[in-house]
Amino acid sequence: MTTTQRRLGEAPPAELLDPAERMSVDELRALQLERLRWTLRHAYDNVPHYRRAFDAAGVHPDDCRELSDLAKFPTTSKADLRENYPFGMFAVPQDQVRRIHASSGTTGRPTVVGYTARDIETWAEAMARSIRAAGGRPGHKVHNAYGYGLFTGGLGAHYGIEKLGATAIPVSGGMTPRQVQLIGDFRPEIIMVTPSYMLTVIDEFEKQGLDPAASSLRIGIFGAEPWTEQMRREIEDRMDMHAVDIYGISEVIGPGVAQECVETKDGLHIWEDFFLPEVVDPLDGTPLADGEEGELLFTSLTKQAMPIIRYRTRDLTRLLPGTARPGMRRMQKITGRSDDMIILRGVNLFPTQIEEIVLRTAGLAPHFQLELTTEGRMDALTVRVEARPDAPADRRAAAAGELVTAIKDRIGVSVRCEVVDPETLERSVGKLQRLKDRRVR
Ligand code: DLL
Repeated sequence: MTTTQRRLGEAPPAELLDPAERMSVDELRALQLERLRWTLRHAYDNVPHYRRAFDAAGVHPDDCRELSDLAKFPTTSKADLRENYPFGMFAVPQDQVRRIHASSGTTGRPTVVGYTARDIETWAEAMARSIRAAGGRPGHKVHNAYGYGLFTGGLGAHYGIEKLGATAIPVSGGMTPRQVQLIGDFRPEIIMVTPSYMLTVIDEFEKQGLDPAASSLRIGIFGAEPWTEQMRREIEDRMDMHAVDIYGISEVIGPGVAQECVETKDGLHIWEDFFLPEVVDPLDGTPLADGEEGELLFTSLTKQAMPIIRYRTRDLTRLLPGTARPGMRRMQKITGRSDDMIILRGVNLFPTQIEEIVLRTAGLAPHFQLELTTEGRMDALTVRVEARPDAPADRRAAAAGELVTAIKDRIGVSVRCEVVDPETLERSVGKLQRLKDRRVR
């Protein structure tokens, strides 16, 4: 093992940290209040949607005297962004907008976001900080397999890699055999990719007769979709690398809103000097105390082109005190989005709960799909999961039975399980869609 490899996975020395990463909670709160007041004023003065929404709620930017006053202000939803499609949420004249991104949006219009030159700089700083917290250092080579284009993943990561002083390898997603070849030839230390696509790449290594653990990769920065501790173990064991979680959302900026530190791997530190988090009850929007689980909201604190106030992410998590960066709160690894929740005969369940159980069942690969159908007047859920290539034939029936029992015991609902041949389910090249809803309504 080389010195570089041994050093990967260590906390950055204090002198490498940004000043905000070293702030005390009190210093950070003071900075947040100043930036929040600026943001509310900027949004109110320049975005008709915010002026209308604040006026309708009877609040004015001057009413924000302390951070807790933010709860008086209205929240913003994806629907608000769609109604103001494409550029109605922008707070600066067009000639100051340097870049536009959009999220594909499975239904209806995409959501469009814009950045000034300063916003792109802020984003690159947040992203560089994330890569450093993951163990990245100037001089590392970073294989970036997040998709380039309107999706914020590819370009967001790219600018952060360069800002850190690392080398960007802008591969984007897809063409899996070539991903493996480039990793072999360029010998990057770090890979940035969705966790589901990482699995596809690991399988490709094995298909080519290569040992994934023997590759140069030592750190994976995985996000854009929910993944579990069991998935972390699967990837870390097969690749012999550190797997850390990165969170981001286009409406707030893109990747780099929050990042797990490699030395603790205990949830994601939110870069609170740029993004102010809240957690509310997903049903009625009541603010919840730190530690309580609910829907995550974000307010941007420095964004110029598209300030965002109390954006309802639909992501479910809770806020925890800082550890590796004591001043900044952490968010727990996301269990799922409120829209991904399946209500099966009255029981709520998330695809991540199934992922955890699949990965604990001997003989089952981490590739699975969920299918909802209607049977009579009832909904039924089928878990279709691949057998591991090395699983003996008689393991399949046993594994299916164990999975059904474990799901019944732990989640409290009966499902059907079909174990299928390796390599038969659709593979992800970016964000994975696990659920197929074929219910008759
Ligand atoms: O997915 C930005 C991103 C790119 C994040 C690359 C990380 C890495 P959107 O396409 O707007 O932006 O999707 C945002 O993805 O609301 C979550 O539901 C989900 N998501 C993002 N990161 C995580 C994560 C990008 N680490 C939506 N864990 C969010 C769980 C995540 N879900």
